[in-house]
Parts: sequence; structure tokens; C-alpha cells
Amino acid sequence: MAPVPSFPVKVGHIDDVQELNKAKPITVPERFVRDMADRPKLTENISTSTGIPIIDLSKLMEGDRDERFSEVMQLQTACEEWGFFQVLNHGIDLNVLENMEKVAKDFFMLPLHEKQKYPMAPGTVQGYGQAFVFSENQKLDWCNMFALGVEPPCIRNPKLWPSNPANFREILEIYSREIRELCKILLKYIAVSLGLKGDVFEEMFRVAVQAVRMNYYPPCSRPDLVLGLSPHSDGSALTVLQQGKDSSVGLQILKDQTWLPVQPIPNALVINIGDTLEVLTNGKYKSVEHRAVTHKEKDRLSIVTFYAPSYEIELGPMPELVDEKNPCRYRRYNHGEYSKHYVTNKLQGKRTLEFAKIQPNTSN
Ligand code: OGA
Ligand code: NI
Repeated sequence: MAPVPSFPVKVGHIDDVQELNKAKPITVPERFVRDMADRPKLTENISTSTGIPIIDLSKLMEGDRDERFSEVMQLQTACEEWGFFQVLNHGIDLNVLENMEKVAKDFFMLPLHEKQKYPMAPGTVQGYGQAFVFSENQKLDWCNMFALGVEPPCIRNPKLWPSNPANFREILEIYSREIRELCKILLKYIAVSLGLKGDVFEEMFRVAVQAVRMNYYPPCSRPDLVLGLSPHSDGSALTVLQQGKDSSVGLQILKDQTWLPVQPIPNALVINIGDTLEVLTNGKYKSVEHRAVTHKEKDRLSIVTFYAPSYEIELGPMPELVDEKNPCRYRRYNHGEYSKHYVTNKLQGKRTLEFAKIQPNTSN
């Protein structure tokens, strides 16, 4: 067996929330307790009427003319006003989703020493551990993460692809292929909804970068004090999120200054616009801030795919979306640089996008 790498592992017993939780503590360690203003108001969870938009992909792809048109309009509204939607009839075999959920869950259920064979080395974002932690006094998320680069193959770190569960690699491979296709299809219709040619993004992105992050949120005795995942927008173009079948409600999006829960719909996938599409569309489509909260008794699993352009490309607002009424709001930059900027800063709402803004908004 290959020796376990000896570089420092940041996640010790004390920061690993699954390990912490095993002792069933009544209090949570200070490092997880949020400042008053950041704590979740869990009573807000009762609003069920305000669900995020739902897009039926089979109507977009196979509907008659009227259905296709009306679904594209709904997609436009979803991207413009919500930045989030759930996609139904996405065409991915449910076994593929179930298998992925199972191996991800099985991975998190392994003993800590087994998971620590795939550590997230300091300064990197792949492997098992806590990403986005840069200082001793930063609050920690009530979450364990396992992240892997998937495509193109050069971003993979094969040492981090676990051999336990035995079929993990094979299942992730199949899963990623399916999700990649879905991202391409969605980007095509997103382009159409913007009045652009269907293949603009595919051509522009070259060989798209795809990464997966599995988030496991154990129950927390004080869900009112902690966050599962700090508020952030995603750096991707598009994000695809699968929620575990028996998971608690946990994902929340910030809409009109209110945190709205995303009610899971069986077999649907949650899609959101990332920073890259916000820049490309000159802000017409927005990457919306979101976070995760925890639950007193239930755990939660999410499997999140980030789909983004090749690191090599230069990007900025597309000329078709810049005019007198919509002056250019973002500069051009290299996508690799943005990705680096994103992963070397803590998650803090939409702060990372200041990188691209022509006039950083300093008023709030
Ligand atoms: C993420 C994310 C939310 C969730 O991983 O970027 O927003 O519900 N996850 O796990
Ligand atoms: Ni996110």
C-alpha cells in the first residue's frame, strides 16, 4: 500500500463535524458559533409557497412549438429573477443519481482515518477537508466536504479518487459524464433565452472545467447558532446540485434580502447561475447568494457539480449584452485567474465578484 502523505492535515478531530457530533455535545464549539447577524432564523423555513422556478427539460427539448417557447421564457425569468431553478425530466437515469448518492454517503460514513487518506492539502481545494479556511479566527461551517476535479483529465488528482467505496471512481465517472451533458444542454437553452446562438457558450468555453464537491452536513444540536455552509455565490458558469433523498431541507437562497429555503423535489436537480455567467451576461443573469443551514436531528448530503470555462480563456461581458442602457459592468479577465482568486478567498457573499467589477460597489 502506498504510504500516506505526510503533509499536515488541517482537519483534526476537533474540526471534523462528524467526529464532533459523535460525542452528542449540547453546546457547539465557539469556532462554529456565528455572530448574531449571521445566524439562521429557522422559523423562516415555514414559507413553502415561494418555491424557486421549475423547468421541465423535456418540454424544452421535445415540446411542441408553444411549449418550447413558453419553457424558454420561464427559463429566462428563472435566470433573470432567481438565478436558481429546479430541473425536472432532465433525462439522467435515476440509477445514476442514486448510485452517486450512495457512494458519496458511504464515503462520508467511513472512519475518519480512512477519509484522511485523501486529505485536502493546505492551499488546495481537492480532497477531504474544510475548504476556504484561511485564518484561525474565521468561523467554521458545520459541514464536511470532499472535492475532486474531474474534467479535463489534467485537473484530476488521481491519488484523491478513493478506492473505498470500491465502485466510487467508476460511479463518479458515469455521473460526471451525464451531468456534463446536462450542463451543455442547459447552456444551450440559456443562450437561446438570451437571444444568442445555442452554441455560443460551448464554443467559448473550449474544454470546460468540471469539478464535484460532496457536502455532508451532520445533525447539529444548535442549528440556530451555526451555518452548514457560509453565504456565497459560485464561481462557476453553472452549478448542478443533487440533494440526498432523505436529507433535511438545508439550502437557502437570498432573494429580496430574505433567505428562502429550497424545497427538495424528488429526482429534480437544482441549477444555479454562477459568477461566470453573471459576467458574460453583463449582469442580466445573476449568480445569487446562497448558504446551507443544518438540522437538529437529520443529516444532509449534497453533491454539487461546478461547470466552468477552460482556465485558459479570457472572458468579459458579451458585446450583445452591452448597450447604452446596460453599460459594461465587468472587465475582461482570464478565467484561470478568477478561479484562483475564488479559491484563495473565504466565502463571503458575493465579495469575490468584486474582482471583475468595473466600479466596485463600496457603498455596502
Ligand atoms: C456549494 C453549495 C449548497 C448545499 O457547494 O457551493 O452551495 O446545499 N452547496 O450543499
Ligand atoms: Ni454554492
